[in-house]
This record gives sequence, C-alpha cells and structure tokens, in this order.
Amino acid sequence: MAEIIAGIGTSHVPAVGAAIDNGKQDEPYWAPYFNKIQPARDWMAEARPDVCIVVYNDHASAFSLDLIPTFAIGVAARFDPADEGYGPRGVPAADGHPQLAWHLAESLITDEFDLTIANKLPIDHGCTVPLSVLYGRPDAWPCRIIPLCVNVIQYPAPTGHRCFELGKAIRRAVETYPGDERVAIFGTGGMSHQLQGERAGLINTDFDLAFLDRLVSDPETQARVGHTEYLREAGSEGIELVMWLVMRGALSPRVTEVHRSHHVPTSNTSNGLIILENAA
Ligand code: DHB
Ligand code: FE
Repeated sequence: MAEIIAGIGTSHVPAVGAAIDNGKQDEPYWAPYFNKIQPARDWMAEARPDVCIVVYNDHASAFSLDLIPTFAIGVAARFDPADEGYGPRGVPAADGHPQLAWHLAESLITDEFDLTIANKLPIDHGCTVPLSVLYGRPDAWPCRIIPLCVNVIQYPAPTGHRCFELGKAIRRAVETYPGDERVAIFGTGGMSHQLQGERAGLINTDFDLAFLDRLVSDPETQARVGHTEYLREAGSEGIELVMWLVMRGALSPRVTEVHRSHHVPTSNTSNGLIILENAA
C-alpha cells in the first residue's frame, strides 16, 4: 500500500520564487533565509518522495470569484504554471498522478468530503513556490504532484477542524491505494500575513511559534482555533494556516520534527517551514 512518509508546512511567498528564478539566493537580503532552509532541502533530497500532495490556495489564478470551490483536487496528468499577470513562472510543468488522484477523489468523496474535481488546473505560486523552496531549480520536478486547493480567499473559508479532518481522510485514502508510492503532503501559506490595510506587515512571531508548537504536539487543540483568532493574531491572510492542518491531519498523532525555521523578512509576512516525519 502507498504511505505518507512526511508532512511539510511552508509559506508560499512569491518573492522567494522570484529570488530562486533570478539566482538571488546568495545576495545579502536572501542568504540568511536560504541558509536556514538548506537542511530542509537536504532532507528532501534524501527522502525523495514519489508523490507530493500540495495543499494550497489558488489566488484567483485557476479560479475566480465566478467559481469558488471550498476544496478541489487536480486529477490531470500535467499541471502548467499559471500566468499570474507577468507570464507563467519559468519552472517546470508538474507531472500529475491521475490514478492516485482519482483514487483520492473516490475515497474522499465516499468518505463524505465532497471535493471538486479539476481536470485542468494551472498552478500558481501557492503550489509552485513550495516546490522551489524544497527542490530549488531543477529541470524537472523529481516527483509527481497532486494539487489540492482550499478556498481561503473568499469568506467563508473552511474551519481548521474541517481541514484537519480532511487530512485524516487523505491518510485513509492513501493507505488504501494499491501501490508502493511514498507520499509527502504539503500544507502551504501563512504565517503572520497581512498584505493590505492599516495593519499591513503585521508580524506576530509569538503566535507563529505557538502555532508550530501546537501543530506538532497538540494539533487537536489547534484545529479548534476559529477564524477570528487567525485574523486577529496573524492578519487577514493568516487564515492560510488552516491548510497546514490538512497536512497535520494526514500524519500520525505522534510525529518527529526534523526541521523548523522561521524567518523575517522575505516579504512583509513571516516565512515558516517545518518538516514532520510520520511515525510508522
Ligand atoms: C505573500 C504571501 C502569500 O502567501 C501570497 O499569496 C502573496 C504574497 C507575501 O508574503 O508577499
Ligand atoms: Fe498566499
């Protein structure tokens, strides 16, 4: 049976993607961030998952306010980088895993998580930047990718608890897939995150680190935190953090933390990265 080997929580800051694309990693502004995350890249190169399920939010690239799925899974054989206004990022297209993705869709929907099925899904920075964070700038992504979108753009977003339960259902689904794929699951977005208005640039490191602590050791409690607390403590887009709970739900109650970094600045939000290995 397929198995989930690890979960990765990471911000998906577009400027990080641009820094990688433009070879700026060694510049004084960027080097401290890239030095901090190098152990995570080393871990990824060693772990070599066959498939990455990337839980992210589409930022009005594939979807728009015309159509707002709460959860959507990409079942295509290939996902092209989205044009977010400046032309598509110069990163490889992602090879999907239609067979596993359809298995996930069937298992999740019959498990009462009514996902939208996307046969065509251009992937925006929410999905491509996390891949660049972990893999750098390869000619081809060294894994298959299954994108899974969560609406955190237009109120009402799903609750943290619903996301956590979705993660548990993803694990059940992966573990009933008759293959030997080793799967990593990404939860992306966040952390402290307010891009506009009077509080733009809000950084609440205490909240970010407490979130990481609870994500690791007491995710059930973190899953009960409501939208208002994310908005108040982590800013208007801090709600993206509920997607990390999908990742956490897909892991065992006990996990091994193999990497954690938290860095400011890479933009005007906090940039977090955590890797949790699944207990057998
Ligand atoms: C930034 C972060 C995001 O998650 C996003 O979608 C856009 C911008 C940022 O930190 O600049
Ligand atoms: Fe975002």
